Amino acid sequence: MTPTLAAAWKDLDDLARTERGLSLRELFANDTARFSRFSCRVGGLLFDYSKQRISEASLAHLLRLAEAAEVSDWRERLFAGEAINTSEDRAALHFALRRRGVEPLFVRGVDVMPEIRATQTRLREFSDAVRSGRWRGYSGEPIRAIVNLGIGGSDLGPRMLTTALRAIGHPTLAVHYVANVDSADLAPLLETLDPRTTLFIVASKTFTTLETLTNAVTAREWLIANAGDSSDGPERTAQALARQFVAVTARSDTAISFGIAPDMIFPFSDWVGGRFSLWSSIGLPLVLAIGMDAFEQLLAGAAAMDKHFRTAPARENLPLLMALVGVWNSSVLGASAYAVVPYSQSLALLPDYLQQLEMESNGKSIGRDGQPLQRPAAPAIFGGAGTNAQHAWFQLLHQGGRLLPVDFVAIVESDYPLPGHHERLLASCFAQSEALAFGEPEADPAYRRCPGNQPSSTFVLPRLDPYHLGALLAAYEHKTFVQGVLWGINSFDQWGVELGKHLAQRLLPAIESNTPLATRCDTSTAGLIAHCRAVRERHL
Ligand code: F6P
Repeated sequence: MTPTLAAAWKDLDDLARTERGLSLRELFANDTARFSRFSCRVGGLLFDYSKQRISEASLAHLLRLAEAAEVSDWRERLFAGEAINTSEDRAALHFALRRRGVEPLFVRGVDVMPEIRATQTRLREFSDAVRSGRWRGYSGEPIRAIVNLGIGGSDLGPRMLTTALRAIGHPTLAVHYVANVDSADLAPLLETLDPRTTLFIVASKTFTTLETLTNAVTAREWLIANAGDSSDGPERTAQALARQFVAVTARSDTAISFGIAPDMIFPFSDWVGGRFSLWSSIGLPLVLAIGMDAFEQLLAGAAAMDKHFRTAPARENLPLLMALVGVWNSSVLGASAYAVVPYSQSLALLPDYLQQLEMESNGKSIGRDGQPLQRPAAPAIFGGAGTNAQHAWFQLLHQGGRLLPVDFVAIVESDYPLPGHHERLLASCFAQSEALAFGEPEADPAYRRCPGNQPSSTFVLPRLDPYHLGALLAAYEHKTFVQGVLWGINSFDQWGVELGKHLAQRLLPAIESNTPLATRCDTSTAGLIAHCRAVRERHL
């Protein structure tokens, strides 16, 4: 850490000692313009952070921290396509996938834009053919169900947005997502599907992921068994695999070895991180659900946020402000978690998506320089749709005595305007942020007391449409990137997830075939395996 950055962190800590006691009541009482001062708008998206425990002084210090951490230099390095993912020697170019216009973008001397455009053209052609019913399965019938087999970044983004945008989804094409290796995910779905009209997408950047490949093998066998079950079986099986099995991957060679036809592979490059891959061909199931025009609106909304992030002054820069508020809460005030609560049933999966984005990116305690971080970085994220969350775990936010900031998301116009519903939804959302901020500290008896001062931000989208969702998600991506810079983290790798994968492969033979463990392991793990064997062999 440079001396300037260390000094900026120390200044923040010093300020926090005096500001820790600041109450939101006082902050609002002393500043009638607080809402306009501590909110910003980008292309129809409102970000209100006035209910955060931020003063002009703390914001000024946070902005100095951003300067000391050289956020604007890092941002330029990101957008210039430098290999800022140093542990994997890769650029992080997800923003290139949503770029408009004809400007080239060179990575290691090669313009990446023609390949992006070519894949987008193929996505349009293929999705048009499937959505219009022109694309036929082995029996000659049109496709009626899509099953995306993928996990993590190859699942969460398209799944979340397919749910969020179901109001504009294809009226008859059902889009399903299977992620878990638990057969309880795939098996019940297969029972409902017609093999003649089902298209599988194997979505895996690496094409090595245990869950996805296990599901893909089972799906392939299911398709072959059903298609082959007639006198012209071999021909129909070949047709089924050629027309109903698609791969989305950065490893076309491995997908071909798996048996996917080369013209059924939608590639993307290894400079797209898994959790940032929604904008690439990983978006295929979403494109099939909402159509390419709507997907391009999503890209356009994200591109508008990219432009804003790159060009807006710091004090008005929405993703930068999101990042600074988050760092203030987690690294200065000490919040170890925060909640994401969309007041939108359609956005119920947003917390899951953001969990991967932020916790896989910044859930680290070793800096880029190989040194342990001086302070805790990414907080844990939890959440769920309002109003349901209010009736489940909001009690802890109101009276639990822990600092647990909240990100609320509200949508002004509903896609499903049943009389009287949406007004109650919005009223509940704004009432919760009000109650958390101001509480009822004098209530009597004491058990009714709500201390308040629980910080929150509120995002307001005019509608749940692709454009505004694209802008919101891109804002969270850039927030995550900025926080990584402030903490000195490489946000684009995820080495922590490798150990568990490796150990699972080591334990698998002992669980599969009751063979002794190849290597010694701890008594708890050995005991758990022995217990499962005993239960299976009916000894317990
Ligand atoms: O295990 C973590 C992870 O590598 C994520 O980063 C990624 O999104 C997910 O697994 C799926 O990986 P793949 O797309 O290569 O199957």
